[in-house]
Amino acid sequence: MTSVAAARDAIAAATDSLAAAGCETPRLDAEVLVAAAAGVDRLELVADPGIGLEPAAARTLMGWVRRRVRREPVAYIIGSKPFRGIELHVDSRVLVPRPDTEVLVEVAAEIAPDGARVHDVGTGSGAVALALKHERPDLDVSGSDRSPPAIEVARRNAERLGLEAEFAIATGMPVGDYDLVVANLPYVRADEWDALPPEISGYEPREALLGGGEDGLDEIRGLVAEAPPGTLLALEHAPAQAESVRGLLADAETRRDLAGHERVTFGRCA
Ligand SMILES: C[S@@+](CC[C@H](N)C(=O)[O-])C[C@H]1O[C@@H](n2cnc3c(N)ncnc32)[C@H](O)[C@@H]1O
Repeated sequence: MTSVAAARDAIAAATDSLAAAGCETPRLDAEVLVAAAAGVDRLELVADPGIGLEPAAARTLMGWVRRRVRREPVAYIIGSKPFRGIELHVDSRVLVPRPDTEVLVEVAAEIAPDGARVHDVGTGSGAVALALKHERPDLDVSGSDRSPPAIEVARRNAERLGLEAEFAIATGMPVGDYDLVVANLPYVRADEWDALPPEISGYEPREALLGGGEDGLDEIRGLVAEAPPGTLLALEHAPAQAESVRGLLADAETRRDLAGHERVTFGRCA
């Protein structure tokens, strides 16, 4: 006879292991892993932690907890990440979309005129482009990335989500006539790398994070320099970079993230 473990016990055991490994949110991570292993929604699991975990699911969970103990991001382990109302497939070919980046989508949805052509440079998983298309179906949305594997992920996400968006492999500003160009390009400084959490430095693509230059702004400066004069740009950046980014654009305005940090600046190229 096979025994069915209660999710409640699995969550408690996983939480202990993840806390001992130094994970920042062990209970939440445990709930997400157990829910994914059991094939139920996390909120459903929290409401009914007496749900049973079949032996196969329990074995999957054990492997997942071992990976999380080594600090692999939860999103890579379960292969998905919620982002501003859509569920994206993610794996180690792309950066895990961050809640802070939802501000970039919010700004784009607010400033893009009706039916506008919007392009997302450095699209990664397609997060910004696809969330924007989901929120503003009237927009003609496209995206590009210099990483061919990232573009594979973005295209697969568009297909899975049934969202119409063209993705292309390209470096920097694409040729075209766009009403708005959005970008969450790499902006981490090289000297910040060693202090990053192991989830980031040990697992996420380094080239998706390091911005280049002493201030981490080389990638962003490069895009602004390439954009035709008058182009409306919305750029994600680190809070400490806000003033410098405002200096790159005319009539620049900055929006804050949920933690109150300056996160997205938009304006026109001079
Ligand atoms: C910080 S990640 C952001 C990914 C995605 N936009 C998101 O918010 O989750 C930066 C992405 O930009 C791409 N990238 C970096 N420099 C680029 C460039 N000059 N042109 C095109 N893509 C670039 C990287 O390959 C990576 O996928």
